[in-house]
Amino acid sequence: MRPDIDVEVREVGLRDGLQSVSTFFPTREKIAWVRAEAACGMPEIEVCSFVPPKLIPQFTDALEVVAASLEVPDVIIAALTPNLKGALRGFDTGVHKLNYVTSVSESHNQSNVRRSTAESVEDFRRIVEARDQHPQAANTRLGAGLSTVWGCSIEGAVDPDASMDLARRFVEAGADEIVLCDTVGYANPTEVKALLTRVVGELGDDVDIAAHFHDTRGLGLANVFAALEAGVRRYDATLGGLGGCPYAPNATGNIVMDDLVFLLEGAGLKTGVDLDKLVEVREIVARNLPDESLYGMYALAGAPKGFQPASRHA
Ligand code: COA
Ligand code: ZN
Repeated sequence: MRPDIDVEVREVGLRDGLQSVSTFFPTREKIAWVRAEAACGMPEIEVCSFVPPKLIPQFTDALEVVAASLEVPDVIIAALTPNLKGALRGFDTGVHKLNYVTSVSESHNQSNVRRSTAESVEDFRRIVEARDQHPQAANTRLGAGLSTVWGCSIEGAVDPDASMDLARRFVEAGADEIVLCDTVGYANPTEVKALLTRVVGELGDDVDIAAHFHDTRGLGLANVFAALEAGVRRYDATLGGLGGCPYAPNATGNIVMDDLVFLLEGAGLKTGVDLDKLVEVREIVARNLPDESLYGMYALAGAPKGFQPASRHA
């Protein structure tokens, strides 16, 4: 983690947000978004997915977006991959980080990546081996994202022991980071704190632990606060909460980055992000996606009188 910050927030709107948006976000505008958000001090941005372009045409320009993003200074550039083939495409670009994805729920894993969780772990082992042998990828970090940790829209409740077990298997397979994801917005703070306390206690010395919440049922930031109490210091979010959920029409998507930064900075935790500059970047998303709703209460209401973000005291 950057030495000047207490909590690392990571923008995932260009991936998690855009993957469910059918309007193509022009390549040059994606790059403008990356540049503008990096200029606010955002430490890490996930810029695309290496998936079959036929499946998600939004990411047809993945190579171009990654190449341009890697030119932007002082920001970690990440991308998602669901399999070895995507990882190899990513390694060739020299991207700083690749985030792999596996659902704890077998049915969700089958529907998302068409294989069992055991097969996903085996594929990840091959990705780690391929990274270790790839000339451009020596410094590419590998994150393992666990989806449906706090519940699945196909199977319902998910056993915390199953998430714990899968996290251990990914650490053993060579992951640099484990990201626990509430993919469909089922989590509540009590369950979040309980599971993340176990994960941080057992695996926190070996790998970075991150959390990824959706605000589908309004508990996203409450879940962040519970995760903070469990010792988690890395959070994904999207500018303006971009990204709906296909299983919950009209529901909000990821937690709102701008509100997350407001929460953390107000709690005295430095994010290194300039909040008011960040709010201005919403305009890039709004002008390219006029039909999508953007969320966020800070952008509506502005700063409380006399508000002193923690990063400004640095
Ligand atoms: N990038 C580009 N092309 C890829 C690819 C990748 N990562 N993975 C597979 N392909 C190509 C194959 O080469 C093959 O091409 P061909 O038809 O020209 O021969 C075709 O896609 C099918 O390959 P296959 O290995 O059979 O994949 P699949 O059809 O079983 O799909 C996944 C598996 C993992 C690629 C697909 O389910 C997927 O991309 N899932 C991710 C969905 C997602 O992004 N969810 C949201 C993020 S959590
Ligand atoms: Zn998500």
